[in-house]
Amino acid sequence: MADAFADLAARPLEDVLGAALGRAFESAGLDAALGAVKPAARPDLAPFQCNGALAGAKAAGKTPRDIAEAVVASLEGDPLFAGLEIAGPGFINITPSQGALDARAAALAADDRAGALKVETPRRVMLDFGGPNVAKAMHVGHLRSSIIGDALQRLFRFRGDEVISDVHLGDWGLQMGQIITGLQREQPDLPYFDAGFEGPYPEASPVTMEDLQAIYPRASAACKEDPARLAEAQQATRELQQGRAGYVALWRHFLNVSIEALKADFARLGVSFDLWKGESDADPLIEDMAEQLTRRGVAVEDQGALVIPVAEEDDKKELPPLILLKSDGAALYATTDLATILERVRGWAPALILYVVDKRQGLHFEQVFRAAKKAGMADRTGLEHIAYGTMNGPDGKPFKTRAGGVLKLSDLIETAEARARERMKEANLAGELSEAEQSAVALQVALAAIKFADLSHDRATDYIFDLDRFMTFEGKTGPYLLYAAVRVKSLMRKAADAGAAPGPIRAEAKEEQALVLALDAFERALRGAYDKRAPNFLTDHAYSLATAFSAFYAACPVLGADDPAVRASRLGLAALTLKQLELALGLLGLEAPERM
Ligand code: ARG
Repeated sequence: MADAFADLAARPLEDVLGAALGRAFESAGLDAALGAVKPAARPDLAPFQCNGALAGAKAAGKTPRDIAEAVVASLEGDPLFAGLEIAGPGFINITPSQGALDARAAALAADDRAGALKVETPRRVMLDFGGPNVAKAMHVGHLRSSIIGDALQRLFRFRGDEVISDVHLGDWGLQMGQIITGLQREQPDLPYFDAGFEGPYPEASPVTMEDLQAIYPRASAACKEDPARLAEAQQATRELQQGRAGYVALWRHFLNVSIEALKADFARLGVSFDLWKGESDADPLIEDMAEQLTRRGVAVEDQGALVIPVAEEDDKKELPPLILLKSDGAALYATTDLATILERVRGWAPALILYVVDKRQGLHFEQVFRAAKKAGMADRTGLEHIAYGTMNGPDGKPFKTRAGGVLKLSDLIETAEARARERMKEANLAGELSEAEQSAVALQVALAAIKFADLSHDRATDYIFDLDRFMTFEGKTGPYLLYAAVRVKSLMRKAADAGAAPGPIRAEAKEEQALVLALDAFERALRGAYDKRAPNFLTDHAYSLATAFSAFYAACPVLGADDPAVRASRLGLAALTLKQLELALGLLGLEAPERM
C-alpha cells in the first residue's frame, strides 16, 4: 500500500486528499471538482474540510448528507485518512493519517524548496516599483512600494516567472524645470544657463545631493506662491524636454548624483532592481506615439490639448480623459507612463506589468491602462496597479517627522537600528557578540521590524507606524521571527556538537503532527500570495510556522529524547522547519542572523 502516498512526494496534503475525495465524488456520480479540500474553519475538530456535498446537492437532487455519506463510504479503508466525519448539514471533516503526514514530511525534508511548487507556465513579468524621484531624498512614501515590490519580485521569481524589475525614477516633468530654475537663481553664472555657451560643460556636478534636497523644496514652494516662478519652471521643463543642451547637461548631473544616493539607500534596505530606468527613457517615443494615436483617431484635440477619452458607458464615476500633450506641447506623468508601456512592450514583450504604487494614484493608472488598451498597445500584456495604503503616523495622517517634514528613509532606518539595539539589550540578546556583529544584527532586526510590519498588513489598508510595537521580540513581528529562526539554528549547532543527526520524521505527538501540517501549508500560502499579489499570506505563514515550532519545542524534548529514532525524527522536523522558515523570510526580504 506504499503507493497510496506516492502523490504526496510532489503535492501538498490538501491537493492529494482533495484528489482522493474527487474520485469519491465521481464514483457517486458527481463532479470531481466537488472534492476540493481546504483548511478547516474549526481546526480543533480536524485539520481539513470538504464542502462539496453541500455544493453538489442541488444538481444531484439529493441531500448533502446522503452525498457525504456515499463519499465517506467509498473512502473506507483508504490509508490517506485517519478520520472522515460528517458534520452539520454535510460538511466532511478530514484528518489525514500519520502515514500520510510522515510521507509528506519526508517529501518536504528531501526538497530544497521545502514543498514550494513552481508555476506550470512561467511568464515574463515586469515590476515597476520603488519609483523615487530625482533630487528628492527617498522618503517613507517610497518605502512601502520598495518593500512590497521587492517581496513580490522575490516571490514571482521563486514561483518560476522571469522577473524584470524597474525602479522607474521620477526624472522628468515639472520638478526638473523647478530645480533648474531654482539653481539658476542661486548660481546664475553657471555655463548651463548661458544659451550661447559652446561647451564642453564641466564634468563635475555643480550640486551635491544635499544641495538638491535644499533647492527642490524651495523652488517648489516658490512655484506654488508665485505664478511667474511657475511659468519659468514650466518653460525650463519644456526646453529640457526639447533638448536644450545646457539643461540636458545639468539634468544629467542631477540624475547621477541622485542615483548614487538612491543606490545606497536601496542597498541598505536590501532591495535591488534589474533596470534603473526612468520616466525620461520613454521621452523619445512620445512624439511618434502622439502622432500615430492622432492619426488613428485614438487621441483627439480638446481645447488645444491632445487627449485620449477613456470613459466607458457603465462607469460609476466620471473618468476624465487622459491628457497626452498639454496645449503648449508638454508631456505629463500619464504621457510618460503610456510611452513607457510602449517601450516595455517593444523591448521585453512582458505578459504582465505590475505597478506597485500608492493607491491614491488609482485614477491615474485606470486612465493609463484604458488608454493603452484602447491604443492596442497592451493586447498581449496584462497591466495591474498593485495599490497599497499609506503608512500613517500616530495622528492617522501620512507619516512625518516631528518637525512636520517628510522623513528620509535613511533617517528612519537609523532610528530603527538604535531602537533595535536597545531592545536587544533589554532582552539580553547578542550580548556576547563582537561590536561589528552586534551592528549587523541590529540592522537585520531593524529591517525585519519595518518590513514585516509593512508586509503583514493587508496591502490596500492604511496602517499606523508604531516602531515600539513592530520591534518587540514577542508576537507577530519581524524580530520574533528572526529570533525563532536563531533558536532553531542554535539547536542544530548543539545537535551537531553532540553528534546527533536529523533522521526520518515520524509525527506521533499532536504537536509534531501540527508542525507537519503547518509546514505543508507553505505551498498554499505561496499560491495565495502569488495569485493575490499579497505578501501578507507569507507573513501569516511564517508566523504560524514559528508558533507551531515553538509549541512543538515546548512539548517534545529534542536532544533530551531517550529513543535515538525519536531524537533523529525531531531533529529532522527542526531542520525542515529552519529550511522552510529561512525560505519564507527570504521571500519577505528578511535575513536571520546565525546567533543573537
Ligand atoms: N515617481 C512616482 C511618485 O513618486 C512614482 C512612480 C510610479 N510608477 C509609475 N510607472 N508611475 O509618485
